[in-house]
Amino acid sequence: MYKDMNELKTECEKCEKCSLCKTRTNLVFGIGNEKAKVMFVGEGPGENEDLQGEPFVGRSGKLLDAMLKCVELDRNENIYIANIVKCRPPKNRDPLPEEQDLCIDWLREQVRLINPKVIVCLGRISAQRLISPDFKVTQEHGVFFEKNGVLMMGTFHPAALLRNPNNKPLAFEDFIKLRDKLEEA
Ligand code: URA
Repeated sequence: MYKDMNELKTECEKCEKCSLCKTRTNLVFGIGNEKAKVMFVGEGPGENEDLQGEPFVGRSGKLLDAMLKCVELDRNENIYIANIVKCRPPKNRDPLPEEQDLCIDWLREQVRLINPKVIVCLGRISAQRLISPDFKVTQEHGVFFEKNGVLMMGTFHPAALLRNPNNKPLAFEDFIKLRDKLEEA
């Protein structure tokens, strides 16, 4: 239990629980408003994030920021963004289940301190970890599930949208549903 986000971040930045610490340039803790009603959770840092120490700052981050803007959300104002694993997996491979297991408590503490109304899982890895192990983004995106008093929704990972722009309208609909949900919350 940590008393605030600064204390948690300071401790997290020393983390050597798994071997990803050996290859990281920077640990990517998370960014945003600690009183946000909504948290976004991706899978893990890529190259740009590792270099800059901030989540979603590469091409997929630019797309995410643009989609957020459409629904009046902004990482510098009213959301918090973090990842399932805090250190970059080499060559951007998926984080291994054991790496996720060793890292997840940092995210749990972030969620406890922020106490969001809604958590949006960006992509399969995050949704399978936080919503259900068999979550299928193509079938279940945009659906809200309640877990321990928090509404959870999975949507397309922005990197997947860059690879397959045909899904952008579906992702956009999910963001509209999110906006409506936040207005109720
Ligand atoms: N992809 C993610 O899942 N997280 C990031 O921070 C960047 C890219």
